[in-house]
Amino acid sequence: MADWTDCLDFGISLAKQASEAVLTAFNRQKEVKLKSSPADLVTETDQRVEKMLISAIRKRYPQHRFIGEESVAAGEPLELTDRPTWIIDPIDGTVNFVHRFPFVAISIAFTVNKQTEFGIVYSCVEDKLFHAQRGRGAFLNGEPLHVSGQEDISRCVVVTEIGAERDDLALSTLTSNIFRLLKLPVHGVRALGTAAVDMCQVATGGADAYYHIGMHCWDIAASAIIVKEAGGVVTDTDEFDMMSRRVIAASSSSVANRISQVVRAFPCRRDCGG
Ligand code: IPD
Repeated sequence: MADWTDCLDFGISLAKQASEAVLTAFNRQKEVKLKSSPADLVTETDQRVEKMLISAIRKRYPQHRFIGEESVAAGEPLELTDRPTWIIDPIDGTVNFVHRFPFVAISIAFTVNKQTEFGIVYSCVEDKLFHAQRGRGAFLNGEPLHVSGQEDISRCVVVTEIGAERDDLALSTLTSNIFRLLKLPVHGVRALGTAAVDMCQVATGGADAYYHIGMHCWDIAASAIIVKEAGGVVTDTDEFDMMSRRVIAASSSSVANRISQVVRAFPCRRDCGG
């Protein structure tokens, strides 16, 4: 079996460099542009950090391919092949970054034959580095991570995101999902504004479940393997598919199943394939 540890170590060193760039810009005035909706934002730092990551990786691994949030926004094709592929979100939580709400992350996943080999999520302001490698466990700042193992939905803290969708169907579906969860009841519903960091809360056991409809593969590819390697379950309505724009991550399959019974999806165009 190929060992991708060299790539993982390189990815971690780059995530640390990227984090420095994000933190330097964090308290400064930003020039903000809109993408797909009035709540889908991009700054010069998102674009610069993504370019920095891709050019450093390309220099070291010229055969590797990339799916990067800002490259796709600029018109690059979003295509996952069997070739080694880095899936990059330079700043997950751009709205937080713009407002200086202190949860922003660099998210880097690496796939081979369409299977995720490792994931790195660096929550910059908190200085928390999450990573996991397939079959080798999940870690936070080098310490092993384990999900809570909670099986009873009525004792769960559930994390979710509203996302950038603002059309009536999406908003009514998203808000009624939260209503139905609260009525189960669950202990609480939370949202930090970054899918990657939200999902890592499940890996730490600080939250018991996470679900999201409408995010993209770069938001959750790295945290999905971190949750799995921490002993959690990652599903869609069926098997996990990082391109489907739906995800449930949970501390146990009973909690994942219960959430999938309660939560409704609204139509979203797949990221690619299928
Ligand atoms: C966004 C964040 C946010 C989620 C959105 C994502 P971005 O990613 O993860 O929490 O609600 O759906 O698009 O745009 O900040 O990289």
